[in-house]
Amino acid sequence: MKCIKYVILIKRYIFNPDPVPTEKKYNWVKVADSVNELDWQANNMCIATADGKKLTLARHAGGFFAFAHKCPHASGIMADGFIDAVGNIVCPLHRYKFNMETGRNTTGEGYYLKTYPMQQREDGIYIGFEERGFFSFLQ
Ligand code: FES
Repeated sequence: MKCIKYVILIKRYIFNPDPVPTEKKYNWVKVADSVNELDWQANNMCIATADGKKLTLARHAGGFFAFAHKCPHASGIMADGFIDAVGNIVCPLHRYKFNMETGRNTTGEGYYLKTYPMQQREDGIYIGFEERGFFSFLQ
C-alpha cells in the first residue's frame, strides 16, 4: 500500500509540482441547539459528541473552538486541562500547549492537536468534519 502511495505522490509532483491549494469541504454536524445547552465546566471547556466522535469544546475571548478529546502526546483528556492567559489549551498530563484554532504545539514538542471548525448558527452549534474523498487513505 505504501508503494502505491509513493507512486501517486511522485506522479502528482511530476505532473503538478506546484499545486493550487484546494478549498476544504466540510460536513457540518449539529452538537447543540445553543451554547448555553452545552455542559460547560469551570475551565470553560466541555465534552461533546458529534458524528460519533468525542470532542472537546472551549470558549475563550468571545470565540468557540473544537478540537480532539485526547492529547496527541499520550492521550491526556484535554477537557481536564486549562486555557492559559494567551488562549492556548494546556494538556493536564505533561502541560504541552496547543493553539486551539490551528492545533499547533506552541511549546515545541512537535505534536499536532486535531482541530475542527465550529459555527454558531441560528438553529444551533455545528462542528465541521472534513469531507474525505475516495482516495483519502493514500494521503
Ligand atoms: S499527554 Fe498531553 S502533554 Fe502528554
